[in-house]
Amino acid sequence: MTSEYRKRAVVTGASSGIGYALSLELAAQGYDLVLIARREQPMRELANRVDVLGRAAEVVVLDIADTECTVATLRAIDRARPVDLVIANAGVGAVRAAATASSWEAMGPALHTNFCGAAATLTALVEPMIERGRGHLVGIGSLASMGPLPESAAYCAPKAGLAMLLECLHLDLLKKGIKVTHVRLGFVRTPMVAKSTHPMPQLMEVDDAAKRIVNKLAYMPAEITLPEPLAFATRLLGNLPRPVRDRLMRFAGSRGTT
Ligand SMILES: NC(=O)c1ccc[n+]([C@@H]2O[C@H](COP(=O)([O-])OP(=O)(O)OC[C@H]3O[C@@H](n4cnc5c(N)ncnc54)[C@H](OP(=O)(O)O)[C@@H]3O)[C@@H](O)[C@H]2O)c1
Repeated sequence: MTSEYRKRAVVTGASSGIGYALSLELAAQGYDLVLIARREQPMRELANRVDVLGRAAEVVVLDIADTECTVATLRAIDRARPVDLVIANAGVGAVRAAATASSWEAMGPALHTNFCGAAATLTALVEPMIERGRGHLVGIGSLASMGPLPESAAYCAPKAGLAMLLECLHLDLLKKGIKVTHVRLGFVRTPMVAKSTHPMPQLMEVDDAAKRIVNKLAYMPAEITLPEPLAFATRLLGNLPRPVRDRLMRFAGSRGTT
């Protein structure tokens, strides 16, 4: 009798929002999970819900901004049992107070977590995945990576860096059997945006977004953009002549909108 092969996914930022919802959706699709974040309690609750779905979930408390520790931890997880899918989702939101938005105090935490932490998560298992000739790396990015937004340098810049990292990984790893997917999201109702007073056009509910992402991930595309109409408008905005775009952005900034 042959035993069923159980796919294994690592999800960072699994204690809340999109990572929590993605983990549940992946469990429903048959994945065993490794849940990573700094807060243990919500991940324990999630692990119980995964258990009810008949899948295994391991909880790992980790600050991904500690990149050396992140790489070592992911490699140990993979040595214990190979990982098929890595989702670099953990992230922090933008500091939007006009006076501090362009300061190092705003920039530092976002760079360490949203770029360096995500890069460590995405690259830690490249070598073992190349040896196996398979694997899927997924970065949760943002439509904010498509162009500058007012008072959002700390959020846009690391997400733009993540976008380029994923493009390069896609180029280099495709021929080695590893698929790379960049998920660019618009607004999703999660704790990250709960206190936002800014307009959030085409706001998605988190369970709906997670379901749509996981359904699309099954095809391992290079890019997933949600919602598509907002992505289209963002692309158009990014391609406007610079003086027009600058004027529109300054207007949006003066009204406190993105
Ligand atoms: N919500 C949106 O509208 C939206 C739009 C586009 C993209 N995104 C992206 O989606 C991802 C998830 O965001 P969300 O909306 O679900 O936010 P969220 O509810 O605030 O969740 C963020 C998750 O990241 C984890 N995290 C933050 N810093 C971490 C660190 N240093 N080490 C380990 N884990 C860390 C948090 O867990 P702990 O606090 O327990 O560590 C939490 O689980 C982010 O990358 C975000 O940029 C969100």
